[in-house]
Amino acid sequence: MLTSNKGPAFETPGAEGGTLSEIERDAEDCTRCDLYRDATHMVFGEGPSKADIVFVGEQPGDKEDLAARPFVGPAGKLLDKCLEEAGIDRDRCYVTNAVKHFKFTPRGKRRIHSKPNAGEVRACSWWLAAELRLLKPSLVVSLGATALYSLLGRQAKVTRDRGQILSTPSGVPVLVTIHPSALLRSRDRADAEMNRARFVDDLRRIGGFLK
Ligand code: URA
Repeated sequence: MLTSNKGPAFETPGAEGGTLSEIERDAEDCTRCDLYRDATHMVFGEGPSKADIVFVGEQPGDKEDLAARPFVGPAGKLLDKCLEEAGIDRDRCYVTNAVKHFKFTPRGKRRIHSKPNAGEVRACSWWLAAELRLLKPSLVVSLGATALYSLLGRQAKVTRDRGQILSTPSGVPVLVTIHPSALLRSRDRADAEMNRARFVDDLRRIGGFLK
């Protein structure tokens, strides 16, 4: 297993609180960055408090912002299907995001996803650190570059480290993979099938961490 030199990336002590519900209640009033101003809801993580596996995505999308639940939109549905193909029981996993408010640019009636910046990711790692402190997962699955930046800082890269299991300084193993939304953007069918098969292969590695 490779070990990163530093991390969780921003060495935040994380929010205090004895339970995930307590921390979620505090996060509802979060003003640590400006994203709370335009978002409909703060979208906290979801899943069993004894989950062995924690998935970390980027930020809630349009559907998640309205539903106040993570991974319920197209990327989440695709993740569910790929987990099923990989033989992983999604109900045993906790899903959350590096950033807990939807960042978007309005275009007519639509809200177009906008990537959170480094300051927003750093501010929000306060909540992710608290989730990981309480969940004590045996594996964190980092979906895409924003999650990886939040977990391990700039030293890890999805393109270079994909499929590897790195580790936070506190010793939590982190499986590096892509964000499922990247599969929704594949250019042609052959490309899409190949990318999806590779993603499912990455997810199969989770099996060994389920107790
Ligand atoms: N993409 C994410 O990264 N997180 C979600 O909750 C939904 C889409």
